[in-house]
Amino acid sequence: MTDNAKLVQSAAELERLLDDLQKVEKFEPPAKFRARARVRDPGVYEVAARDPEGYWAEQARQLHWDRPFTTVLDDSDPPFFTWFGDGTLNVSYNCLDRHIEAGLGDRVAYHWRGEEGEERAITYADLHRDVQRLANGLKDLGVGRGDVVGIFLPMIPEVVVAMLACARIGAPHNVVFGGFAPESVRERMEVSHAKALITVDGARRKGRTAPIKREVDRVMSGLTELRSIVVVRHTGADCPMQDGRDVFYDDLLARSEPVCPAEPLPAEHPLFILYSSGSTAKPKGILHTTGGYLTGVAATHRDVFDLRPDSDVFWCTADVGWVTGHSYIVYGPLANGCTSVMFEGAPDYPSKDVWWEIIERYGVTTFYTAPTAVRVCMKWGIEYPNRHDLSSLRLLGSVGEPINPKAWLWFYAVIGRQQCPVVDTWWQTETGHIMIAPLPGLTPTKPGSATLPLPGVSAALVDLDGNELAEGTGLLVLTRPWPGMLRTLYGDDERYVSTYFDRFGPRTYVVGDAARRDSDGYFWIIGRTDDVINVSGHRLSTAEVESAIVAHEKVAEAAVVAETDQVTGQAIVAFVTLNADLRGDDQVAAEIREYVGVRIGKLARPKSIIWAEDLPKTRSGKIMRRLLRDIADGREPGDVTTLGDPSVLHQLQERAAARGKATS
Ligand code: WT7
Repeated sequence: MTDNAKLVQSAAELERLLDDLQKVEKFEPPAKFRARARVRDPGVYEVAARDPEGYWAEQARQLHWDRPFTTVLDDSDPPFFTWFGDGTLNVSYNCLDRHIEAGLGDRVAYHWRGEEGEERAITYADLHRDVQRLANGLKDLGVGRGDVVGIFLPMIPEVVVAMLACARIGAPHNVVFGGFAPESVRERMEVSHAKALITVDGARRKGRTAPIKREVDRVMSGLTELRSIVVVRHTGADCPMQDGRDVFYDDLLARSEPVCPAEPLPAEHPLFILYSSGSTAKPKGILHTTGGYLTGVAATHRDVFDLRPDSDVFWCTADVGWVTGHSYIVYGPLANGCTSVMFEGAPDYPSKDVWWEIIERYGVTTFYTAPTAVRVCMKWGIEYPNRHDLSSLRLLGSVGEPINPKAWLWFYAVIGRQQCPVVDTWWQTETGHIMIAPLPGLTPTKPGSATLPLPGVSAALVDLDGNELAEGTGLLVLTRPWPGMLRTLYGDDERYVSTYFDRFGPRTYVVGDAARRDSDGYFWIIGRTDDVINVSGHRLSTAEVESAIVAHEKVAEAAVVAETDQVTGQAIVAFVTLNADLRGDDQVAAEIREYVGVRIGKLARPKSIIWAEDLPKTRSGKIMRRLLRDIADGREPGDVTTLGDPSVLHQLQERAAARGKATS
C-alpha cells in the first residue's frame, strides 16, 4: 500500500521528519488532491471580492427556497444587517426532505458510536421520520413559532432530531453543552424564556453515568415559563417524572402524528440562540437566523472541506453543544446531504486508540478536530494511530484556537501521512461559519496560519486607532457583513452594538482577537484581546469564573487569568484572597474548585489557585490582571507605574513559582 510508505514507525524517525518539515515554509496542495478538488480556480477570490453579495446570493440559491429572495443584503440600519430578507425557507426541509425527494433517504446521515462500542446507522429517512413526530409532539406541548426550546443532551442522535424538530416549526433552540452544570442550564433557560427543555435520563462519561434528569430537576423548579420537560431514555436511569410537565421522548413520539410539513419561515426568523462567554459574568445569547446562517454553513462546509457528498465520511469531533457542533456536525453536513460520524465518548475511552479505530471502521475521509486534541494525541504517542489503517483520510481540519506549528506538523505527518491538506479554520460563535481558512485544493498552507479570508469574506488588521495595516500585528476586524453573522445578542441589542461595534463604528465588526499578517497577506491569529479565556477551545470569561469563586463563603476577592498550557492552550489560574483569619490550603483549594464546577461546569474549574494576601491594584482600586498574567506565566511583571502597592507582587511571584515546581 502506497500509504504505508509514509507511515512514521518510531519516535526517532518522527523527530527527524518533524525537523525536516519544520524547514518547509509553505505546503502546496498535493497534486493528486488538487487535480480532483472542487475549487481549483484561483479566480474565485477575485470574483467574490468584486461582487460579494452576488457571490453569497449564488451560494444561497443552492438551497431550497419556498419563496425566492429578491433582496440580498440590507445594510440600511447598521449594525443590524439582514440577508435574503424577503425569502422564505425551512432549515429542516433543506437538511432532510430535499435529500429524500432526491432519492437519498437511505443514505446514512450519522454513523453513531456509543461509549461502549454500540453502533447505530441513522439514515436521512430515519431522521425525517423522528423529526416530524417530535415536531408534532412539541406543538402538542404548546410550543409554537418563536418559542424557545432548551436542549441539554449528550452526543446522541436525538440531539440532532431535537434541533431539526425545532427548526421545522420555527422554535429557536438553545442548546447547552452537556458539560455545563445544571445551574448554568437553569440560568440559560431563564434568560431565554424557554418554554420547553429536551434532556436525558442520564449521560455516560468514560464508563460512569451521571443522573442528568435528577440534577436538572433539582434546579429547574420555579421557572414559570418552562412548561414541559421531554426526557430521552438513554442510560435507563430511574428518574422522577413530574405529572403534567414531564414526558418521555419515546412516548411523545409514539403518540404524535407522523406527518409534519416543514413551515416556510422568513429568512431572518431566529434559528437558534447559543450562549457564549464574553467580558462580563453574564453570558451572551448569540442569535443566529435562518437563511444567511444556512447559506454560510453549507457553502463553507462544502468548499473548505472539499466535500464529495456521495463518498465522503465527515467527522467533526466537537460537541454539538458548541457552535462547531451546530455548524459542522448538524447544519452544514445535513444541508449538504453527506454522511458523518457522531461519537458519544472521550478520545481515551475505552482506549487511547478509539478515534483511530473509528476512522478505520467507518472509512472517515475528513477529520475536523481541535489543536488541544492534537496535542494530547501527540503526548500519547504514535503507537495509537499506528495501530490502525488511516488511509481513508484525505483532509484534516483544525478549529478553536491557534494551532502551534509543531502540532500542525504532527497532525500532517502522523495522521495525514503527508497526503492530506490541513485546513486551519478561524471563526467564532458569532460568525456562525468559517471565515478565514485555506481552500484545500488552492491555497498553499503555512503551519500555524489560518491563511486567507474565504471568498466573500472581508477581514483586515487595524491598529488601535482603526488604521488598516497591510502587514504586522493588530486587531482583527471584519469589514463587511456576511450571511451567517450573529444578528444581535438575544434580548440585548445595546450590548450587541457596544460589544462588537463601539470601537470603529457600525460597519466594522471587532472580533476580539489580535492577529499578525505576513507579507503574503496570511493571517496568524494570536489570541483574545478581551477577558475571554480559551481552554481546550472552550470559551470562558474571567469575570464569570471570578464571580463563581467570590460567591464561595470563604473568599473575599478573586482575580482569574489565563496561563499558557502545553496541552489545553490556556489554563485558568485564580488568585484568591480569603476572608480575614482564614488560611489557604489544598483542602480549601479543592473546595473552591469543586464549587466552581458545580456552579458553571467542570471545564471552568481553575487549574491552579494562588493564595494572595492582597491583589495588585491600581491606585483607584482596579485589579491589574495584566501583571497577574505575567506572574502566572513566570514572566517578570511589566509596567508597574500605576500599581498602588508594589510590595504585593513579590510574594505572588514566589508562590506562583513554587506552584510551578509542585506541578511539574
Ligand atoms: C475564538 C472563538 C470557532 C468555533 C470554536 C470556537 C479562537 C477559533 C481559531 C483558529 C486561532 C481560533 C479565537 C476566536 N479561535 N478558531 N483556527 N485559530 N484561534 O468558537 O468559542 O466562539 O471562540 O476562538 O480566539 O475568537 P468560540
